[in-house]
Amino acid sequence: MSLRIGIPLETFAGEKRVATVPDVVEKLIKMGFSVSLESGAGAAANFNDDAYRDAGAEIVPSAVALMGASDIIFKVRAPSKEEISLIKPGATLISFLWPAQNSELMQCLAERKLTVLAMDSVPRISRAQKMDALSSMANIAGYRAVIEAAHHFGRFFTGQITAAGKVPPAKVFVIGAGVAGLAALGTAVGLGAIVRANDTRPEVGDQVKSMGAEFVPVDYQEEGTGVGGYAKAMSEGFQKAQRNTFANQAKDVDIIITTALIPGKAAPKLITAEMVKSMRAGSVIVDMAAEQGGNCELTVPGEVVVTHGVTIIGYTDLPSRLSKQASTLYATNVLRLAEELCKTLDGVINVNFADEVIRGATVIKDGVITWPPPQIKILELAKNSVISNVPVALSKKSIHGHGSLKPVSSSLLALVFSGGALLFWFIGAFAPASFISHFTVFVLACFIGYMVIWNVTPALHTPLMSVTNAISSIIAVGALVQVAPPIVSSAQDRPDVLIQVLSVAALMLTAINMFGGFAVTHRMLAMFRK
Ligand code: NAI
Repeated sequence: MSLRIGIPLETFAGEKRVATVPDVVEKLIKMGFSVSLESGAGAAANFNDDAYRDAGAEIVPSAVALMGASDIIFKVRAPSKEEISLIKPGATLISFLWPAQNSELMQCLAERKLTVLAMDSVPRISRAQKMDALSSMANIAGYRAVIEAAHHFGRFFTGQITAAGKVPPAKVFVIGAGVAGLAALGTAVGLGAIVRANDTRPEVGDQVKSMGAEFVPVDYQEEGTGVGGYAKAMSEGFQKAQRNTFANQAKDVDIIITTALIPGKAAPKLITAEMVKSMRAGSVIVDMAAEQGGNCELTVPGEVVVTHGVTIIGYTDLPSRLSKQASTLYATNVLRLAEELCKTLDGVINVNFADEVIRGATVIKDGVITWPPPQIKILELAKNSVISNVPVALSKKSIHGHGSLKPVSSSLLALVFSGGALLFWFIGAFAPASFISHFTVFVLACFIGYMVIWNVTPALHTPLMSVTNAISSIIAVGALVQVAPPIVSSAQDRPDVLIQVLSVAALMLTAINMFGGFAVTHRMLAMFRK
């Protein structure tokens, strides 16, 4: 008999996400499940009941009716005790849970004889990336952190030269270049800011640079990579050196986004009250680790506070502030987990402990607490797998298709080169000598022009055009020769007055082209300089 999946309305204050979306409902039904949704569950994420109904879900008026009739519950936030009491005994729950922090809740769930898969316990290994809701939420949170910072920051992110004056670009410092940190720095680079980042794991330096930001190292030799690719707690000496580096950055930057996290530990305090005081008035700090106590000493979790003129944002619900996007990604993560649980596509699940991903995610099985999972196997896997959950933004190149030019076949290339060689031999053998010298200059000019233009970033093609235009004013030499001719010996050798007048006019116009061209190029290039 196929199982029924129930999606209740999230009851946690301010939570706007929903555990599944209409597109995913269709896929779950194709897998053999039936789906029920509490009326209004998707409303805060802009999915109305009709959209779910059209996708094949049954809309149930209350949580009581929904929970009592569902074999599997999909949720975003961990259920409250009241919600647990509504779930059918023996049912399966899939949601965020944080078993280490919620032992009392774990007991309640076990007493109800439930099977519970925690989305936060899905191991972070390559095969499980499609189910990694922590990464998809951290990605959204990193993006939103920059948007929140921009909202509270009273200036542009990008530098501009306007008629009303020059605007310097904002300087953003990201601490912790994990999933959330890289998403934040990518967003800030996209908005045109100067972005710097620091992390205790040296291997992220290349990722930071590849995303257009600068890696700020700490002047202290210590390996920061811990178990399974995560960070480890650093020595006292390192922490002191790091505080010095951060103190210097705090004085210089406009925005700090902190994401530093060591799993299972309280957030390290990296930004001191003193550093906040040293920042310019109007600066912004987004402390993404607020829920774990915060990376900044002055953060108030869930609040925005202004201290010493610096706005400190401690929101703990950043993904929920992008509820439609977050719900869509979360629903897909849960769908992928459901696919692993229901490989037979008959609407029945098998919580198979031989599968390391399902084993890792299952924190309670049939009322027995199975958390924490055995470490060794997962760690071996983590060591052998690349944890690379960094979202890749679609580049303009890939959108427009230039990124996927087909390689020219070698036979076609050989044909083109042989044809070219034959043509050159023909010209060399039959053309007059004067033509050959002009032709050689022409070919060399084409080659140099091609090499110069091809190596210039497309964004700089406009200043390149204006500078070549300015250089073309070399024709001024011709006008100069006409204005001041060689010493004349007789009256008939004297230059024509008309030619002289025309030459002076030509000189004036070329001068405008030359000096104006260089001035415009200079201004354009200044816009790219940070
Ligand atoms: P992650 O584990 O991928 O990244 C954390 C990074 O911090 C790692 O690269 C680690 O090497 C680095 N780090 C640790 N200690 C450090 C130190 N002392 N100095 C410099 N770097 C250090 O974690 P992820 O997924 O990127 O999440 C980051 C934070 O964002 C977490 O605290 C998480 O709870 C939080 N988060 C907050 C949300 C919100 O709404 N406020 C939503 C989602 C995530």
